Amino acid sequence: MKKRDLISIADLTKAEIEEILGLALKLKKDRGLTTDHLKGRTIGLVFQKPSNRTRVSFEVGAFQLGGHCIYLGPDDINLGQRETTEDVAKTLSRYLDCIVARTFAHQDVIDLGKFADVPVINGLSDLDHPCQAFADVLSIQEHFGHLNNLTVSFIGDGNNVCHSLMMICAKLGIHIKIATPKGYGPNAKVLKNARAYAEESGCAITLTNSPVKAAKGAHVIYADVWTSMGQEEETQKRLQDFKDFQINGQLVKHAREDFIFMHCLPAHRGEEVTADVIDGSHSIVFDQAENRMHVEKAILIFLLCDPKNT
Ligand code: CP
Ligand code: NVA
Repeated sequence: MKKRDLISIADLTKAEIEEILGLALKLKKDRGLTTDHLKGRTIGLVFQKPSNRTRVSFEVGAFQLGGHCIYLGPDDINLGQRETTEDVAKTLSRYLDCIVARTFAHQDVIDLGKFADVPVINGLSDLDHPCQAFADVLSIQEHFGHLNNLTVSFIGDGNNVCHSLMMICAKLGIHIKIATPKGYGPNAKVLKNARAYAEESGCAITLTNSPVKAAKGAHVIYADVWTSMGQEEETQKRLQDFKDFQINGQLVKHAREDFIFMHCLPAHRGEEVTADVIDGSHSIVFDQAENRMHVEKAILIFLLCDPKNT
């Protein structure tokens, strides 16, 4: 059987997503008890960008499964610069059992997956952040006790986090409203695919340029930074373009009374969200951060230990 990768939420069926979420919940209940799922196995973290959550959650998660991680930052492996992505993938496959990649170009993760003999997991690219989306829906499910008839409102940039969240919501039948300034909407191809998933699962994807419209009646208000890693030279323009998209006390009044606030982190207080919201009683941002580890353990078991995928 051909090895499986997790490059995008698009790679998985609804049933597979549910299987991973179920396993993550079970692992979470075991409170970090160590297992030997990954005994003697090594995972390489090939990161071209900085990371707190992704790096630490994979390192600790793999350790709890009896495995080992090697962090390979931009000074170690400079994808496509020091050597080709193809040579990196083929070389690392001779040492490692899995590669987690954090890249700028999404194509680099696709190429790693294509040329590596071992599973490749996308730990964030400019287009997608699938591990984050898994942690997000697990956090929503834990908070509300179910995923039925919920509305998630993503307010900000139609970026990597937005894309993965939109796809996972669409696959699982969670309504999603996305409010962006004009010109910052989600990628057209990702949106087209997500609309097809939404049609199948029976939920709605709504795009708007009005944060208030998006927030109205929402169970979840979701924020991410306005300037993603790699876009730093656009910071000043983005501060201007996104100034009406801040999630603050006024805006969240339009959501349901029992709404939750979510953010993938890192956050910029005073920009995309005010401190009273992110540090307030509706915020579940650190549950999301914790759940990164539980879902990633489940993803590792799914890709590396499940006989149907290996
Ligand atoms: N949310 C997330 O991926 O955080 P890091 O960039 O710190 O890994
Ligand atoms: N959109 C952000 C997410 C960081 C976890 C970025 O790509 O920088």
